[in-house]
This record gives sequence, structure tokens and C-alpha cells, in this order.
Amino acid sequence: MPQLVTPATLYQTSFLAALVECHEEHRHLELGLTTLRAPETFARYVAALRAEENLRADDHSGRVPQTNLWWVDGDEFLGRIAIRHRLNAGLRSVGGHIGYETRPSRRHRGHATTMLATALPLAGALGIDPALITCDVANIISRRVIEANGGRYAGRDADELHFWVPTA
Ligand SMILES: CC(C)(COP(=O)(O)OP(=O)(O)OC[C@H]1O[C@@H](n2cnc3c(N)ncnc32)[C@H](O)[C@@H]1OP(=O)(O)O)[C@@H](O)C(=O)NCCC(=O)NCCS
Repeated sequence: MPQLVTPATLYQTSFLAALVECHEEHRHLELGLTTLRAPETFARYVAALRAEENLRADDHSGRVPQTNLWWVDGDEFLGRIAIRHRLNAGLRSVGGHIGYETRPSRRHRGHATTMLATALPLAGALGIDPALITCDVANIISRRVIEANGGRYAGRDADELHFWVPTA
């Protein structure tokens, strides 16, 4: 049964296969396949993802602390979700508290819906309730994921639809 886990090097093979699929969709082109194939680079990437949870309030990057989790079944990487601990001006407009994606070859099987349902209590434990989740006006599938999890439409900011989703 799939579960949410902290990013770890044991998923490297499957994560890289998923990254190939994402690159075919022109997503995550900033993540270089050749570099991430080196075990030590992949270990550094995983460590950096885990460290995002501990970003300090006075961090100058403008980024807020974020818990990155991977949706896995055994050693198979299926998708990812990020819980931002608080909103800044950018996230209030686009992104919100939670962002997710399912790897292309594993879509349409309910993974995003279940992954979000599993992550919402974790967001609640961080003091987030309700969570702001946004999606592009054209992203009908993501809208269904949000609404299946109790999301209530809260208006739009340009092409981005906003929803409040209860975490408890
Ligand atoms: C949006 C995304 C996360 C959905 O992932 P998924 O695992 O395929 O989603 P699910 O299988 O849980 O499907 C969600 C709903 O969309 C429906 N759906 C899935 N694929 C569909 C398709 N091609 N056409 C129409 N409906 C579809 C499902 O039937 C389901 O609706 P239902 O619960 O009413 O049956 C995935 O497409 C993705 O990663 N996209 C790129 C990143 C992204 O857009 N992230 C969201 C940012 S807000």
C-alpha cells in the first residue's frame, strides 16, 4: 500500500525513472539526470530536500520552511507532495500551502487524491487549518483532487483558482 515517506536514497532508481517521464513533459528540467545518477549527488539532493523543513524565518532566499514527502509503494516512487509551513505573498497568490504531483506513468489511479488525503493531517499537525491549495484554471484534474478532499472554492487570482481545504 502506498505511503508518504521522507525522501531517501533507496528510491534513487525509481525516482530517476520518474524524472525521465517528467522531462518528456518538459517538467523539472532543472533537475539534471546525468548529475543525479551519481549516488553522492543524489544523496546531496535528498539531504537538501529534507533540510527545507528547517529553513529559518530569517532565511534570505525568500523561501518558507517546507516538508517534502514522497509517495511510494515499496521502493517505487509514485509522486511527491510539499507542505509549506506558512504562506508568503507569492504562495498566497500561486502555490498555497500544499503542492503535489504524480509521476506521469502512474496517473489516473487515484494517487494524488489519496496522497493529499494522507498529507492533510500532517499539515494540520503543523498548525495549518484550513490549507490554501491553488491550481491553474485549466487544471481540471487537480481541481477534482482538491474538491475530493473537501476543498471549497475561495476565488481566483488571475489564472489561479484558490481553495480552502480542511486539514482536520
Ligand atoms: C494533477 C495530478 C497531480 C493528478 O494526479 P493523479 O494521480 O492522476 O490524480 P487522481 O488519479 O487522484 O485523479 C484525480 C481526479 O481526476 C480524474 N482524472 C484523472 N485523470 C483524468 C483525465 N485524464 N481526464 C479527466 N479526469 C481525470 C480522476 O478520475 C479523479 O477524479 P474522480 O476522483 O472524480 O474520479 C497529475 O495530473 C499531475 O501530477 N499533474 C502535474 C502536476 C500538477 O498539475 N500538480 C497539481 C498542481 S496544483
